[in-house]
Amino acid sequence: MKLTIEAVSKTFVNQRGKSLSVLEDIDLTVNEEEFVALVGPSGCGKSTLLNITAGLLEPTRGSVRFLDVAPGCIPRHAIVFQETGLFPWRSVEDNIAFGLECLGMEKAEKKERVKHFIELVGLRGFETSFPHQLSGGMRQRVGIARALAIEPDLLLMDEPFSALDAQTRTIMQEELVTLWEKTRLSTLYVTHNIQEAVMLADRVVLLSRRPGKVSKIVTIDIPRSERELPCYAETIAEFIREIWEHIAKDARAALLEVEE
Ligand SMILES: Nc1ncnc2c1ncn2[C@@H]1O[C@H](COP(=O)(O)OP(=O)(O)OP(=O)(O)O)[C@@H](O)[C@H]1O
Ligand SMILES: [Mg+2]
Repeated sequence: MKLTIEAVSKTFVNQRGKSLSVLEDIDLTVNEEEFVALVGPSGCGKSTLLNITAGLLEPTRGSVRFLDVAPGCIPRHAIVFQETGLFPWRSVEDNIAFGLECLGMEKAEKKERVKHFIELVGLRGFETSFPHQLSGGMRQRVGIARALAIEPDLLLMDEPFSALDAQTRTIMQEELVTLWEKTRLSTLYVTHNIQEAVMLADRVVLLSRRPGKVSKIVTIDIPRSERELPCYAETIAEFIREIWEHIAKDARAALLEVEE
């Protein structure tokens, strides 16, 4: 499945009636089996764009379209947020089963599917644990398993690892690469973290702010599973430098800005 975001703009009106143009004329494509990272300074509209893509927000102008969908099929997307939003009263397996229950899946099939995804994200043995009994990294894995279990056509992720400590984050990034190679789902991934974007994505889309516009697209033409190798260290560092130089000015302005 292919996602196209066409000429999307979004204007919010704040409590004092002042309009704020957050996104302007965004054109973006996520191709079949492509991982696109969306990077930009705080407040540039990354979450807004992801929420519009997910249908949680209406764009002021423009449209979001899903192409190459099998005839008669309604495209399915799944979201992983920064805070996993797990149900605290449900066990790991019941959390993962939630989306399947909503789809009305029959019991035996649901059980089989949940088991598969628990194994895929490395949570075997924790099926009956509750979220408060898990580490932050494990909770994120439950969130990812819950998203993948419905077998979506598109995976949307909004800073899924930003609440994790640096080591756990690095491990989760590596795990996501392995997991993604198994599923190869069209993915739109929002992050502040340039290094993370360069390690994960096929293309990194940079958003400028006020209003958010696509300011640059960088293609990371190194096989994903080889990006950790020392022979690519210099090329990876060069990508990170290129992206940071492009967004540094915007990021500094964001830090100094006082919200009107
Ligand atoms: N519902 C809303 N009503 C009014 N303004 C909003 C609303 N949602 C977001 N905004 C404003 O839109 C701008 C972009 O917000 P958004 O959350 O998309 O940014 P972001 O790039 O995801 O930031 P961060 O990196 O900090 O998560 C911000 O200035 C925010 O205050
Ligand atoms: Mg955000």
